[in-house]
Amino acid sequence: MILVLNAAVRALSCLGYTCRLQAASGLGRDSGLLTTAAAYLIYSSSVAAGAQSGIEECKYQFAWDRWNCPERALQLSSHGGLRSANRETAFVHAISSAGVMYTLTRNCSLGDFDNCGCDDSRNGQLGGQGWLWGGCSDNVGFGEAISKQFVDALETGQDARAAMNLHNNEAGRKAVKATMKRTCKCHGVSGSCTTQTCWLQLPEFREVGAHLKEKYHAALKVELLQGAGNSAAGRGAIADTFRAISTRELVHLEDSPDYCLENKTLGLPGTEGRECLRRGRALGRWERRSCRRLCGDCGLAVEQRRAETVTSCNCKFHWCCAVRCEQCRRRVTKYFCSRSGGERLRPRRRP
Ligand SMILES: *[C@@H]1O[C@H](CO)[C@@H](O)[C@H](O)[C@H]1NC(C)=O
Ligand SMILES: *[C@@H]1O[C@H](CO)[C@@H](O)[C@H](O)[C@H]1NC(C)=O
Repeated sequence: MILVLNAAVRALSCLGYTCRLQAASGLGRDSGLLTTAAAYLIYSSSVAAGAQSGIEECKYQFAWDRWNCPERALQLSSHGGLRSANRETAFVHAISSAGVMYTLTRNCSLGDFDNCGCDDSRNGQLGGQGWLWGGCSDNVGFGEAISKQFVDALETGQDARAAMNLHNNEAGRKAVKATMKRTCKCHGVSGSCTTQTCWLQLPEFREVGAHLKEKYHAALKVELLQGAGNSAAGRGAIADTFRAISTRELVHLEDSPDYCLENKTLGLPGTEGRECLRRGRALGRWERRSCRRLCGDCGLAVEQRRAETVTSCNCKFHWCCAVRCEQCRRRVTKYFCSRSGGERLRPRRRP
């Protein structure tokens, strides 16, 4: 959300003083590139939508984790005072820059921008055994470049945190590329598949989120010497350190705080009062263990509450054209972490 605001603020300030300055100096015009100012106007709605989808994906991926992607964590720019540099910060940066790149790329494929279309640069070339590049590949190169301009520009620092954030922004963009899918079409007499043409398509954004969640679990901690970054040589050493780590991996500098506990200084709510899942069809392993993770392992009990939900049901289509539904009431049991009453799960190790 902060990113969205920042993009808007930049666009506005761009409309005023900065833009005129840039236009006056003739930046970009002759090189065929859009000026930064003009770019903000054209892409800012797409960037905002992309950042939003990154945030929604973060909330989805962490819905049953102790840290559940709270608004407070979504401070992406370096202006905000308290900035953490832990594994969760790493994920927020990666999923946001991935969301921005993804949305820009999708907008491009849908023809939303005049200056951008399919990536057909390899069309006609041999791609592999029995297939040629052809068709309309999603233009991730475009999304990547514009996302870099917008998201990386929010990072104005020069310290290790800045280097970490930029690294994770890049890891987010790499995740979009890594999850792209090859789709092919057969050619040949009467449906025989003697040759195929193939193109690369964006996956569902959910897949990018799941990919980054794995990277989150495997994030690397970078240890830097105290005081590194206070000198030019130190900054060089920081840059070298980060450069040595693959941009496919997430990196962090600090350990995460204990998310079980409320900590007002850090703005952490703790897990008391959180809902968790127990029984139910189609619960994955991660969800099924959520009561243990959120309550039991945090020293809290699991409290059952009965609740009633009202949903639309037995909907009928009436010719023509209305849908009428009944309201169905259903008793459901929900589970919450509670300090007082409820069932105590034997706590296990607290990772
Ligand atoms: C790009 O796509 C997003 C979400 O699909 C949409 O909200 C936005 O308006 C699009 N941007 C443009 C410039 O069409
Ligand atoms: C909150 O977190 C800070 C920083 O990690 C720590 O120093 C402090 O002791 C914590 N406070 C509580 C109440 O746990």
